[in-house]
Amino acid sequence: MTAFGLYFHWPYCTRICPYCDFNVVRNRDVDTAAWAFVLARDLDWLAAKTAGRKLTSIYFGGGTPSLMPPSLAGALIDQCTALWGLAPDAEITLEANPTDAEQARFAAFKTAGINRLSLGIQSLRDQALRFLGRNHSAAEARRALDLSLRLFDRTTLDLIYARPDQSLAQWQAELTEALATGIEHLSVYQLTVEPETAFQKAVARKAWALPEDPLQADFYDLTQGLCADAGLPAYEISNHATPGQESRHNLIYWHYQEYAGVGPGAHGRLLLDGTRYAVETRKAVGDYLALGQRDKFTLEPLSRAEQGAEYLLTGLRLTEGINLQAYEQLAGLRLPAKQVQYLGEMALIEVSDDILRLTAAGRRVLNRVVLELLASS
Ligand SMILES: C[S@@+](CC[C@H](N)C(=O)[O-])C[C@H]1O[C@@H](n2cnc3c(N)ncnc32)[C@H](O)[C@@H]1O
Repeated sequence: MTAFGLYFHWPYCTRICPYCDFNVVRNRDVDTAAWAFVLARDLDWLAAKTAGRKLTSIYFGGGTPSLMPPSLAGALIDQCTALWGLAPDAEITLEANPTDAEQARFAAFKTAGINRLSLGIQSLRDQALRFLGRNHSAAEARRALDLSLRLFDRTTLDLIYARPDQSLAQWQAELTEALATGIEHLSVYQLTVEPETAFQKAVARKAWALPEDPLQADFYDLTQGLCADAGLPAYEISNHATPGQESRHNLIYWHYQEYAGVGPGAHGRLLLDGTRYAVETRKAVGDYLALGQRDKFTLEPLSRAEQGAEYLLTGLRLTEGINLQAYEQLAGLRLPAKQVQYLGEMALIEVSDDILRLTAAGRRVLNRVVLELLASS
């Protein structure tokens, strides 16, 4: 079945984490009835444009979708089922924060149709959670994980590492603890300092600094090794899973397949009448709720060169790499042999049987590799 995914962006959070640059707002005066009405209209509009596709995945992301009323998530899943139909093994993911309050809703989300929970645990250490500005404790996080592993078919958790003053030994102990829970999917992100975040201001006034290379590379290599030894090899730069437990929704992004997005600041890639469009919605919550679909969804046709570049940027994140023939079909030309040879000699990429993939060294410099590959094309 051709993959087709739907992403919902729920922008509300109880508090804004100091490292976060996602499209989020404080969880105040949420007009749930207005959201139910507006999102239902948006789905009808999108379904009229994407008739004949079956949904293989639905993803509720944020912000903090575990703050949504489970009944709203259920109504949206039911409407999606009626509009597109769901593949038999469709993956329906909800991003959740592990507070006790949100744990109390997990069972209702399962009843609503969620079959995969993505827990934003971030760390199993209280001191790190305070530093990251999280509104939950390590004990709450463990309770949420235990509950999720019991309730849902599939559970994944997010961890942030390479934090200031964190030692390799401390990370080894924390990651080993997470892997010992029997989790089958893990997203592990090295802390980044994003523009216009509280963390950027802290770094600017030299309150603290991120670990520098080669320590950053050591953190990455340690993570790769520990996860692989625990049976969760990396299938993507930051994502690890036991075989078969990969995120089907995110694989749609990385395989450059079709997906639609609703909610403020959501993205999509749609193939309409042979043209691939980059679809984006208005970011501001007020605009999103007030405007009609024609004004809040922008559809930009993508050139063949843009499609080729996107295919490289998304596909090379995967351990499996990209297919050179698929690249040629999208971009309308082959990758320049000179650049491919040069990057091969630099041991940043390897090519075999028309598959081009990054080496471990290449994974650390993905953007540079893509720029090099596209340099003369
Ligand atoms: C959309 S966010 C998840 C939101 C969810 N409400 C939460 O906080 O758990 C996706 C993940 O990106 C990661 N992330 C966000 N900002 C980051 C940053 N600056 N550095 C590293 N990881 C980050 C976190 O692990 C987070 O769980």
